[in-house]
Amino acid sequence: MTDDKFDAQEIRALLKERNAILLAHNYQRPEIQDIADLTGDSLDLSIKAAKTDADVIVFCGVRFMAETASIVSPDKTVLMPRRDAGCPMADMITPEALKARLAELGEMPVVTYVNSTASVKAHSTICCTSANAVAVVNSLAEDEILMTPDRNLCQYAASKSAKRIHCWDGYCPIHDQLSAEEVLNAKAAHPDALFMAHPECRPEVLALADAVLSTSGMLNFAKDSDNESFIVGTEEGLVYPLQKANPNKSFYRASESMVCEDMKRTTFGDVLRAITDMTCEVKVPEKVRKPAAKAVERMLQLSSLRSQLVE
Ligand code: 13P
Ligand code: SF4
Repeated sequence: MTDDKFDAQEIRALLKERNAILLAHNYQRPEIQDIADLTGDSLDLSIKAAKTDADVIVFCGVRFMAETASIVSPDKTVLMPRRDAGCPMADMITPEALKARLAELGEMPVVTYVNSTASVKAHSTICCTSANAVAVVNSLAEDEILMTPDRNLCQYAASKSAKRIHCWDGYCPIHDQLSAEEVLNAKAAHPDALFMAHPECRPEVLALADAVLSTSGMLNFAKDSDNESFIVGTEEGLVYPLQKANPNKSFYRASESMVCEDMKRTTFGDVLRAITDMTCEVKVPEKVRKPAAKAVERMLQLSSLRSQLVE
């Protein structure tokens, strides 16, 4: 028996003993995805965190995801096996900078991508994810809004909405680096493949896409499509679940350099340690949690249909 196999059994046994569930983002290492109770995009995982009966949530992803779990499930213990797994885009905005921008623009609703800190969410009207950004923007009564922190997701939502949207100038370093030239090269190499792009990519890249989707959206699209090959315009971790769910289809990375180091930090050893010692707890203080929960819950109410899919 390999060590990994041994650890996986030990982890599953401990999860049961502690009445814990393990949630893993679609970019996590393959072996972490394989032992998870649920894998998904940010929206799937926040819905599951809000609805679970477990006493403990072990979150394998990055910090803003574990914080979101703590925001929607304050009575549960949320463990994040690698506390140093952050998101550079989430750090591109602070509550102070947001308040200063609103003072310049005048009061207006703030739509904040879940890839943000709890304290920025606490100063926002409503959250969104890559799966529901357009629906969230269009759900607001106001015609003028500020969207943070991802300029690419913001421009994409603006292209699908009649509203006047001010974009914060943040970006995901992994998605923003994908160039139109790389996509054109991949298309030339695989002319029959459909190109799926994440909305964190630049507008000129999204203009080349056959479909603009969240990570779980890509999994559904590839499964439902009659096409047999796909170019994947997101972090490389998604290729594993795509290939696993569609063994007879082919998936090509749009670029070899789309690797999020933060998403790859968590190992079996980290999970085992966290669940054995019940360490690495993430707890958002009530003063921040309460206003942040309003913004997240407004989004979750809009996404109630999706919630039925992850019961
Ligand atoms: P998804 O919500 O589409 O899975 O994206 C999360 C993320 O971090 C993208 O970089
Ligand atoms: Fe953040 Fe980009 Fe990594 Fe997603 S892929 S966690 S947005 S740095």
